[in-house]
Amino acid sequence: MLVDGFGREVTGVRISLTDRCNFDCIYCHNEGLGDTRGPMDAADNEMSTDDVVRFLEVCEEFDVEKAKFTGGEPMLRDDLEEIIARTPDSIETSLTTNGTFLPGRAEALADAGLDRVNVSQDALDPAAFREVTKSGAYDDVIEGVLAAVDAGLTPVKLNMVVFEATAGYVPEMVEHVAENDGLQLQLIEYMPELAGRPDWAVDIERVHGWLAEQADRVDHREMHDRRRYWIDGGMVEVVDPVGNEDFCANCHRVRVTHEGYLKGCLNRNDDLVPMGEMTRDEIREAFVDVVDSRVPYYGEYLVRDGDDWVVNDEYIGAPVSY
Ligand code: GTP
Ligand code: 5AD
Ligand code: SF4
Repeated sequence: MLVDGFGREVTGVRISLTDRCNFDCIYCHNEGLGDTRGPMDAADNEMSTDDVVRFLEVCEEFDVEKAKFTGGEPMLRDDLEEIIARTPDSIETSLTTNGTFLPGRAEALADAGLDRVNVSQDALDPAAFREVTKSGAYDDVIEGVLAAVDAGLTPVKLNMVVFEATAGYVPEMVEHVAENDGLQLQLIEYMPELAGRPDWAVDIERVHGWLAEQADRVDHREMHDRRRYWIDGGMVEVVDPVGNEDFCANCHRVRVTHEGYLKGCLNRNDDLVPMGEMTRDEIREAFVDVVDSRVPYYGEYLVRDGDDWVVNDEYIGAPVSY
């Protein structure tokens, strides 16, 4: 297993299969490529099926345990089932999707060997859903979540980005997962840096405070990247990279962009390495190099300056390879 200079083992990879998406969520960080990226890429810029599988085989050699497929919307790829079926058996697979294509396809994904899905669902209210996603596909998403549960892609995590437009819906989402078997709620602190609207952020500690009051049980393990609350039989997880000082210190993932660039950190684009035409040996070497260059973002690459985060002088001037 590869370990970076901060003692973080690389146990997972997060592979963006496309940056195309049928939604236009107002908060979208585009898997770290930011809101300044312009129009979506053409499908022919994306990694091929074989490229993805070859990378996953290298991951297997390095004892990577989990692969997360993301987008854009990863279900826009017709070869998703093939990629999953060809993923080495030792690697657990999961998918993060907006859910619209799950009705009618969840079963095929499960048959291909997919273990779990996370579905972005920011509200239980169609109007709020439309405001956030700019899409009217609310019913498809609700149906998609049911299809995923039926297909056994559980636990199905409902991803809810907590920011100005959604914070008021937290209590009903908590109730919703408590009442429905197979669901968990994942509350995600809005990451403003890549989405461009810092004024939308809400104080995630207030959300923690409210959850703690409701919870029957809380898992606040030290040095864990997320806190868990059990409320009325439902499970709520909080992903808070900005507010939780330990989050980045516990980041165990290397990323790959849809074009096949290795990426050491969601928030950085100055350390990308294109795998393009590389041989398998070169991919192995590049993987090792990227792991070597990884630094925790909050707390190391960015350091506290009073209430602000500023770039650590040590990293200013790092080479740009994108
Ligand atoms: P599982 O719990 O294994 O399903 O993974 P996950 O919750 O990380 O996956 P998901 O794709 O649902 O991501 C949830 C949120 O966490 C998204 O907003 C991701 O961008 C964010 N996220 C996941 N990993 C990291 C990370 O390493 N760093 C940061 N800053 N954010 C992350
Ligand atoms: N902040 C936090 N989470 C975000 N996501 C997208 N943009 C942001 C952001 N700016 C989440 C979505 C999706 C997952 C892949 O990333 O909820 O489920
Ligand atoms: Fe971005 Fe995901 Fe929303 Fe698509 S569904 S716009 S990738 S957050």
